[in-house]
Amino acid sequence: MNVLAIESSCDETACAVVCASEGRVRVLSDVVRGQAAHARFGGVVPEIASRAHAEQIVATVQAALHTAGITRPDAVAATAGPGLIGAVLVGLSFGKAAALGWGVPFVGVNHLEGHLLSALLNDPAPAFPFLSLVVSGGHTTLYAALAVGEYRVLCETTDDAAGEAFDKVARMLSLGYPGGPRVEALARSGNPRAVAFPMPRPSRSPHDLSFSGLKTAVRTWIERHPETSPADVAASFQDTVARYLLDRVEWGVSTTGIRRVAIGGGAAANGRIREVLSASGLEVFLPPRETCTDNAAMIGNVAALHLAAGHPPWPLSATARSRWEVGT
Ligand code: KG4
Ligand code: ZN
Repeated sequence: MNVLAIESSCDETACAVVCASEGRVRVLSDVVRGQAAHARFGGVVPEIASRAHAEQIVATVQAALHTAGITRPDAVAATAGPGLIGAVLVGLSFGKAAALGWGVPFVGVNHLEGHLLSALLNDPAPAFPFLSLVVSGGHTTLYAALAVGEYRVLCETTDDAAGEAFDKVARMLSLGYPGGPRVEALARSGNPRAVAFPMPRPSRSPHDLSFSGLKTAVRTWIERHPETSPADVAASFQDTVARYLLDRVEWGVSTTGIRRVAIGGGAAANGRIREVLSASGLEVFLPPRETCTDNAAMIGNVAALHLAAGHPPWPLSATARSRWEVGT
């Protein structure tokens, strides 16, 4: 079964074709088109994102079909949320119209479930149950993935997301947007032990994650110690985030007894976070860096897995959801 999948929830117009057979999902094509127009604003401008998706979507879909060597899929999937609502609606409406035109089933996909299950596209892939740490620009959540569509939130940020913290520190260091990759590049020439930033601690419950205290500590340090090199600040911040995430994953492992750990979302592309998790002694599944940031293969993966599990397709009247808990 071939699934054409569309992702348009933020500033990437992406389209992929995946093929599901014998319990595995393979990627036949995976096209991602970025939107350079946001760079001069220092962040994503929702209106610009929606317009750019509308301009790029037809060519992106055509490129994905062409690379996969198919003209008509067996099903169409599109991200239905969470995300920038105008941006989501471009891909979702296009996907529903394409499914209607081809007369094939349509599946709306939760973007976070895409990140959560993206390690299943790996070879080897984790078997259920596994823990999945989603560290994106808007969300940071550790899930226990019990089966396709069955997830339990173990802990979640109550303030900033990990990627958002990288973006804010990038702004403090005048690195511009997108922040995460620029902080990582600068950190390569810095000393991760130069500044001992305080490790965030759960305020009320072990189910809470927090990045705002660390972000404030970085800002205060930069103001009080202008002599510290930006590379040392970047490396020390990045290292603290990586050790904090490992600390929370280890807590998740100890409370569930599940030792298989996957990671997904933009900040999962970070080399230091990958290194620290890999060295943990846990059974860690890291998707390739390019499948951590937003893409449509992860959306096709979720749709194919739900259809293969016998879950029903969506009615074409279903619409976008700007907020949407995974598994609901
Ligand atoms: O998953 P994603 O592509 O989009 C969302 O769903 O939000 O994540 C984007 C986030 C941004 O905050 C970006 O700064 C961060 O992921 N990011 C990184 C790296 N690459 C992207 N953070 C740290 N290191 C990176 N190499
Ligand atoms: Zn994402």
